[in-house]
Amino acid sequence: MIEIFSHKNVISIKEFSKDDINYILEKATKLEKVAKSQEVSKSLNGKIVGMMFFEPSTRTKLSFETATKRLGGAYIGIDNAASSSISKGETIADTAKMFESYSDALVIRHELEGVSRFISEIVDVPVINAGDGAGQHPTQTLLDLYTMKKEFGDIEDLKVALVGDLKYGRTVHSLSYALGLYNVKMTFVSPPELKMPKENLRDLEKNNIEYLEESNLNKVIDDIDVLYDTRIQKERFPDEEEYNKIKDAYLINKKMLEDKNLIVMHPLPRVNEISQDVDNTKHNRYFEQAYNGVPVRMAILETLISNIKNKK
Ligand code: CP
Repeated sequence: MIEIFSHKNVISIKEFSKDDINYILEKATKLEKVAKSQEVSKSLNGKIVGMMFFEPSTRTKLSFETATKRLGGAYIGIDNAASSSISKGETIADTAKMFESYSDALVIRHELEGVSRFISEIVDVPVINAGDGAGQHPTQTLLDLYTMKKEFGDIEDLKVALVGDLKYGRTVHSLSYALGLYNVKMTFVSPPELKMPKENLRDLEKNNIEYLEESNLNKVIDDIDVLYDTRIQKERFPDEEEYNKIKDAYLINKKMLEDKNLIVMHPLPRVNEISQDVDNTKHNRYFEQAYNGVPVRMAILETLISNIKNKK
């Protein structure tokens, strides 16, 4: 196991080496029993995590809260700007300063790209990006990688298709970069309007990572280990008519998976892109994937908070 993880914050997966990622995944494996309440941990005893959620969330927020409690810590937080003094005109910088004074680490979700990094530059406690607009979602990526490693034993040499909204989907922006560290054969399947942004493709090209782009899922579905589906995100479309034209571009159902040897992952929430008849098939890993947020976020919180303690 890698002995040192020196990052103070988790803002972008691009700042992580493969060793850093493996460190968190191995630690998460060790914390599984605590995550399932089969063992007790007090590693965050006396610590408070500040949850700053300015955008809706179910999995990220609840799994961070669960992770904190499983480690013996406590949390405080807001669910939206309207319930905080931001609604009275307070700046996000002042709000973050208040959170800093009340807690030992901050978890931040915001609709604007760059907010977590901005806050990490003005506070001294660790900052975790829990999703910033169409930017990054690094803790989701770590739990996605954890899910693949749990399933296949290794991430190396897997064949992964990222499907759906690759333009606005922050989960696939983070994930494609991380998969590039593992010699994964990546295929990006999307309608032409929702292709992976050039900036993300350039990152892969700089690192000599090969990828394929395809609009027809049927052309790749027979030769993949992981179908990573994503929601077409209505809230990020400037024009609702454009959204309506492509919202049903890739609908996954039980019949089309019948003779396939792959797992289906999805960061969730799904709307209708995965039919409910897939839920009870051998292909479904999306609910387990969401659960995996608990051990992975425990590993992140424990590492960052203990790093701070070690520095004193
Ligand atoms: N995957 C994910 O980020 O889900 P939530 O938006 O519910 O947190």
